[in-house]
Amino acid sequence: MEQYAIKGGNPLVGEVEISGAKNAALAILAAAIMTDETVLIENVPDVRDTNVMMQAMESIGVVVNRIDRHTVKINASQVHDLVIEGDYIKKIRASYYLLGSLLGKYSKAEVVLPGGCNIGLRPIDQHIKGFRALGADVGIGYGRISAEAVKLKGNHIYMDVVTVGATMNVMMAAVMAEGTTVIENAAKEPHVVDLANFLNSMGANIKGAGTDVIRIKGVSRLHGTEYGIIPDQIEAGTFMFAAAVTKGDVTVKNVIPKHLESISAKLLEIGCEIEESDDAVRVVAAKPLGHTHVKTLPYPGFPTDMQPQITVALGLSAGTSIVTESIFENRFKYVDELTCMGANIKVESNTAIIDGVSKYTGAHITAPDLRAGAALVIAALAADGISTVDDIKYIQRGYEDFHLKLQHLGAQIDLVTTDREMQKFRLKVG
Ligand code: UD1
Repeated sequence: MEQYAIKGGNPLVGEVEISGAKNAALAILAAAIMTDETVLIENVPDVRDTNVMMQAMESIGVVVNRIDRHTVKINASQVHDLVIEGDYIKKIRASYYLLGSLLGKYSKAEVVLPGGCNIGLRPIDQHIKGFRALGADVGIGYGRISAEAVKLKGNHIYMDVVTVGATMNVMMAAVMAEGTTVIENAAKEPHVVDLANFLNSMGANIKGAGTDVIRIKGVSRLHGTEYGIIPDQIEAGTFMFAAAVTKGDVTVKNVIPKHLESISAKLLEIGCEIEESDDAVRVVAAKPLGHTHVKTLPYPGFPTDMQPQITVALGLSAGTSIVTESIFENRFKYVDELTCMGANIKVESNTAIIDGVSKYTGAHITAPDLRAGAALVIAALAADGISTVDDIKYIQRGYEDFHLKLQHLGAQIDLVTTDREMQKFRLKVG
């Protein structure tokens, strides 16, 4: 079994290149099947989730040609099936984007119900409501969701909650529908804008992405395009907090600083220095960290996907901090692991009350999900002594070369698979 072996204590110092945004890539890959012409996509992160998505696309006849590690050419002119099935696809929640894109192009699709991170209930009622508003019959049964329409027709759709997934899914389904679709109370996340820009580069007519009202005028067809995916806001934020927690000095490169504003603001509040340039942000943690309060919110608020990382930092800050999770109801499972490392955190419902401690100590811990897994690695990098992190498959879903990028910043971290490799690591780090 693969594990990370980590010896904490080294401040992270240097520069790190941020990969393409996983959550944008998953929707954009699915949307690429909406034309019969070839689409070239650059800056695709090489992570498990994107690879599973491409495997699912290949299973229905899409030709996926990898030009290099981060560039793919996609041609969907030979699609022979509109059913996405198989146990592997349940591993990624974003499989449901294939429902929107196949429905939008072929007026019919069936996909096994999505899995993904176990961080709460995660209903899909708003996706279903949107597809139905466009005129599709939607059914759930035998572990699958299916949607079918004679002809999709534009409509006015009000989202009852701000949801990234439903906003993007309905956008794809509406792009070639007859007439105009208006999505109100739409999500404004950078990846929503990226998907709209991608679809517009294929000939779609989408306006207002990035605001809470998106207008989509249906077009009769989409054409091929060449497109580069935006940098990953959450990967960048994770390295920024890794710098803070290890008292380091890290420049995250290839980022859009505007997308990182809520993260930079919190780091400033707890005493870090932030330097921004056009496509990089430097985080210097020269002083002891201070406490703060934070509530996760839809963009441009503080992202729920950064909640475990800021909690790890506040666990080492002077004073009492409060973290409120307002997006997912079950996102503090990692706190038990952090407690094993010496943190003093009490969770009540959707709130964590954190009394900062002066240090964490190394422990044998398990990653409960993707972002919490990354946050626990950061905690281990700051801890006294050696830690091992199990179930790193979750982390590999969304972080490309995580341990290699950390090594490059001076972290003592190795991927080990056997007791012998673990012994070697112990000898190496002394
Ligand atoms: C996406 C991201 C995930 C991130 C989340 C919030 C991907 C693959 N995943 O997940 O990393 O944490 O956005 O930024 O892009 N909801 C409903 N009904 C629905 C859909 C959602 O009630 O039909 C609720 C959810 O339970 C949650 C909230 O809306 O409370 C936001 O969820 P949503 O934005 O849809 O998250 P995902 O798209 O699943």
